[in-house]
Amino acid sequence: RKKVSVSDLASMKGKEKISVLTAYDYSTALICDRAGVDILLVGDSAGMVVLGHPSTVPVNMQEMLMFCGAVSRGAKRAMIVGDMPFGSYQPGTSTAIENAVQFIKGGCDAVKLEGGAEIADKVKAIVDAGVPVMGHIGLKPQTSSLWEGYRLQGRTAESARRLVQDAQALEKAGVFSIVLEMVASEVAEVVTRKVSVPTIGIGSGPGCDGQVLVLHDLLGIYEDMKPKFVKRYAELARPILDAVLRYTQDVKAGKFPEEISTFHMSPEELEKFRG
Ligand code: KIV
Ligand code: NA
Repeated sequence: RKKVSVSDLASMKGKEKISVLTAYDYSTALICDRAGVDILLVGDSAGMVVLGHPSTVPVNMQEMLMFCGAVSRGAKRAMIVGDMPFGSYQPGTSTAIENAVQFIKGGCDAVKLEGGAEIADKVKAIVDAGVPVMGHIGLKPQTSSLWEGYRLQGRTAESARRLVQDAQALEKAGVFSIVLEMVASEVAEVVTRKVSVPTIGIGSGPGCDGQVLVLHDLLGIYEDMKPKFVKRYAELARPILDAVLRYTQDVKAGKFPEEISTFHMSPEELEKFRG
């Protein structure tokens, strides 16, 4: 099957909505790919939902590259975007290029960086090095404690205007798409209209060109936090708990394994073994 490309996504704008989900491992990447998800984002949200950190900040390159390798071996059709972790692009342009290249060598088709006009020079340098870049503005979890906080973005006319400017700066720097996280839907709509590249919303209303969710939120596996924008398409924590409870009860009661999952020596060898 043919891989989803940057030009496929560009031609979907205004015609067909883009489906994006996070993935962190081989088995779920395989399932999401089979379901026709257009982009699999190996998000630094892995730091929270897989590694158990309280935020995305502690995640490092080595961890991200391991997740990316696993997802790339599962996805045949979906484009794979690697989320550059905090600290991997802030030090400078050459560090940003080096780390972006590591993602491509590790199986990704593109990278994502959080930030607007202030990181446009790094975005341009990475794109010039031949690596497609997805932007990410609005709520930026890597630096939200420092700046605007973990809340809705674009609430005031001034901040709405800044979001439009950031999106335009990213477009000029060469991004192929922009994530809008927790942006007031009116602002997300205007941004979507004002840039030529597809916007991918999370908590930013129906006006975006595509939508992204964290897989563990959609499946109802991650229960530490439930933002209002999450829609749970399944409640898997419960059936997983039930299955593991039944297994443990069976082990304790000696009911597992049963004959069907037990292996035997041949009668002849058994005879020799027993003497
Ligand atoms: O890390 C992540 O999962 C993300 C998406 C929510 C956009 O950045
Ligand atoms: Na992220």
